[in-house]
Amino acid sequence: MFCSLYSFSVTGIDAAVIKTEVDVGNGLPCFDMVGYLAGEVKEARERVRVALKNSGYPVPAKRITVNLSPADERKGGTGYDLAIALGILCALGFLPEDLTAGYGILGELGLDGSVRAVPGVLPCVIAAKEAGFSAILLPSENAEEGALVAGIRVYGVRTLTEAVEHFTGAGGGTLVTPRAWAPEEAVAEDFADIRGQFLAKRAAEIAAAGMHNLLLSGPPGAGKTMLAKRIPGILPKLTFEESLEITKVYSVAGKVSGEDGMVRSRPFRSPHHTATLTALAGGGRNPMPGEFSLASGGVLFLDELPEFPRAGIEILRQPLEDRRIQIARLHGNVSYPASFMLVAAMNPCPCGYYPDRNRCRCTPDQISRYRAKLSRPILDRIDLFVRVQGLPPKDLAGAPGGEHSAAVRSRVELARKRQEARFCGTPYRYNSEVPGKLLSESMQVSKEAAEVAREFAERTGCTARGYHRMWKVARTIADLADSETVLPEHMAEAAGFRTEQEGDYL
Ligand SMILES: Nc1ncnc2c1ncn2[C@@H]1O[C@H](COP(=O)(O)OP(=O)(O)O)[C@@H](O)[C@H]1O
Ligand SMILES: [Mg+2]
Ligand SMILES: [Zn+2]
Repeated sequence: MFCSLYSFSVTGIDAAVIKTEVDVGNGLPCFDMVGYLAGEVKEARERVRVALKNSGYPVPAKRITVNLSPADERKGGTGYDLAIALGILCALGFLPEDLTAGYGILGELGLDGSVRAVPGVLPCVIAAKEAGFSAILLPSENAEEGALVAGIRVYGVRTLTEAVEHFTGAGGGTLVTPRAWAPEEAVAEDFADIRGQFLAKRAAEIAAAGMHNLLLSGPPGAGKTMLAKRIPGILPKLTFEESLEITKVYSVAGKVSGEDGMVRSRPFRSPHHTATLTALAGGGRNPMPGEFSLASGGVLFLDELPEFPRAGIEILRQPLEDRRIQIARLHGNVSYPASFMLVAAMNPCPCGYYPDRNRCRCTPDQISRYRAKLSRPILDRIDLFVRVQGLPPKDLAGAPGGEHSAAVRSRVELARKRQEARFCGTPYRYNSEVPGKLLSESMQVSKEAAEVAREFAERTGCTARGYHRMWKVARTIADLADSETVLPEHMAEAAGFRTEQEGDYL
């Protein structure tokens, strides 16, 4: 007696269909599982056997063999339990196999026969739909998340019995219909709350427009954290596709929340400097996306950047270059998206008050050691350097707030439209992504503007990478100004945001 059902395995943020074959035969009673399985998959045997018994389907003393295929796909996770249990019931003749045709089945079983939530439901449902399944059975806790995918029927089940009753026509399982999708409208933390700080706000707007990396330096209380937190609100509103991509990462990380789990606003992640490398970059025995990937599509905020261990700063290099992160594993690599805008903040010296000599008593040696924690390769990947000074108390109380986030965002969206038109048909979306060798042909820099850049490079001795970054920032400034060509004033403003890197403080 043989039967096959379909389940799913997740690698990275994508899922593959896994054929779950069950054979029940005579012979010495045993329960074997084969098919390139991780340890936790083999533990399915015990969960399935006990769950079947406790749901009123005692497993007869027979020889049970479960094969998960394709054989070359390494299978991890606990989501096959439900398909295996239903497969056994089919093979035993309790359930006609043809009733399960066209179904994907996903869920972990508790010993009491309950169906438990699993991570990565969204990519599984996407894979099911792409493979042509007409329906999928999911743990009821994950069903809203699964229903985000249009074009496939999603049923939530709470128990193994409900799953059986779904197929026998006894009405088990609940059909979940997708909600209407709209990005979040209101911005909780508004730009208008920030008084003064015109230069820092301008830098944030440029950074948002071209997905440039930004470093804020200034004394404690100057408003660095306040500004960083408000950057997601000036980034363009999420499209449905972006929202789905971001939600896939959260789904795989087991971090979906809210009514249907859909991520509706731009991520803002601010890992502490004590976070482990795995927490930052992702990985682990059952690989999970880390903070870099959870920030994808939004902002990665590294507060107190020099406090991060050197290794933590250095592993930023790959995602900053490739916008993805590779995790090496025993059984093949996984890769996760990591396309974030880096916003970093730091104090200019260990006490935080340099160059205010009334307050800072740090020695030049202490100051240079503190700054040396930021390696040249990281500084080269920063596009905009801004020094933020604290506002005097009278200005904090009196001055009116600035523009609302929505107003800034509309300018950012226009600059993005110009970039979209420019990069149409290329793999690039933002100015910051264009590789150095393509700069001169794609950036439309006027001769005079190029001259400004060359003079700046000669004067400061900035590296080739830093030089390219300046061109890209100038292009974004021109896009914000709705200018076809990069003019000298655009390049000069871009250079102004690099000078802090050299000179007196870095
Ligand atoms: N420009 C500003 N406008 C309004 N409030 C400010 C401003 N700068 C600082 N503040 C107030 O000071 C607090 C501390 O700022 P914070 O962003 O934490 O400073 P930092 O991160 O630079 O140490 C903020 O929560 C805010 O209440
Ligand atoms: Mg702060
Ligand atoms: Zn100091």
